[in-house]
Amino acid sequence: MKGIVLAGGSGTRLYPLTKAISKQILPIYDKPMIYYPLSVLLLAGITEILIISTPRDIDVFKELLGDGSQLGIQLEYAVQDEPRGIADAFVIAEDFIGWSSVALILGDNIFYGSNFGEIVRKAALLTEGCTIFGCYVKDPKAYGVVEVDDELNILSIEEKPEYPRSSYAIPGLYFFDHHVVEISKKVRPSARGEVEITSVLKDYLWNGTLRVELLGRGLAWLDTGTHESLLEASNFVEAIQKRQGMYVSCIEEIAYRKNYISKDQLLDLAMPLMKTDYGKYLVDIAETTKGGKGRR
Ligand code: DAU
Repeated sequence: MKGIVLAGGSGTRLYPLTKAISKQILPIYDKPMIYYPLSVLLLAGITEILIISTPRDIDVFKELLGDGSQLGIQLEYAVQDEPRGIADAFVIAEDFIGWSSVALILGDNIFYGSNFGEIVRKAALLTEGCTIFGCYVKDPKAYGVVEVDDELNILSIEEKPEYPRSSYAIPGLYFFDHHVVEISKKVRPSARGEVEITSVLKDYLWNGTLRVELLGRGLAWLDTGTHESLLEASNFVEAIQKRQGMYVSCIEEIAYRKNYISKDQLLDLAMPLMKTDYGKYLVDIAETTKGGKGRR
């Protein structure tokens, strides 16, 4: 399975923070926002990843993450010239996807919780249809919403409904077979002028190949849509890291634990960061944790 991080958009809801820089490069405590969604794809075992951003911002991501070889993965980049909607990602990524199945994660979605690695690793085994998740939230109006019956059959999918039929929001993490490209090409813009991801999901629903997994209380899905929620996300990450001493969405650590890089490569990545706790953490992981490819 391949992966896409969609990290474009106009970011106007966070102005003036995002007037001159990308939303997905903003800090969430000690790392750029895009580390969080990228870590989800790495946890899922996905190592061929396309990052999509705006003409203005794409070079910042290239500078930050390069070709991915330092993490033992392959990163490619593509531009979305206008924020036409989330489903547009699959049209842009047509050649990248080819005949492969593909995971899409939105560049501003943050997940953290026990067993999440296992959940996404299983989801990434998909070869047919589409898998989405449902997260119970207090106010689902701002999201895509999925309604299910007791047997987890999906009854409806709606984008930002005024009167939600359930409390399950659909987070920005989706697993598709390769048909997603042709389906996305057929999607017409919604009333707000965007090709909606929920229109793609409805197509899979009508074909009987849409599956949902409800994520329980142990999973934190964090919002970064407002100044307040951005700060809350940083505070959440700081609290977990300080209390547990384990880092949230540390892509270098995940690359090492997943055997994408060796111990020596991890130590090389730590070197320029040694003035920070982040760098010291990487050294600690290298010295105390088994994993990693054989030494160079
Ligand atoms: O976060 C989950 C929600 O994301 C889902 O529940 C909704 O179904 C889905 O439509 C989406 O809703 P948002 O209102 O949060 O989408 P937003 O326009 O904020 O875009 C989400 C991310 O995707 C954001 O980081 C910007 C990026 N984006 C968005 C659009 C429309 C792009 O890169 N290009 C685009 O054209």
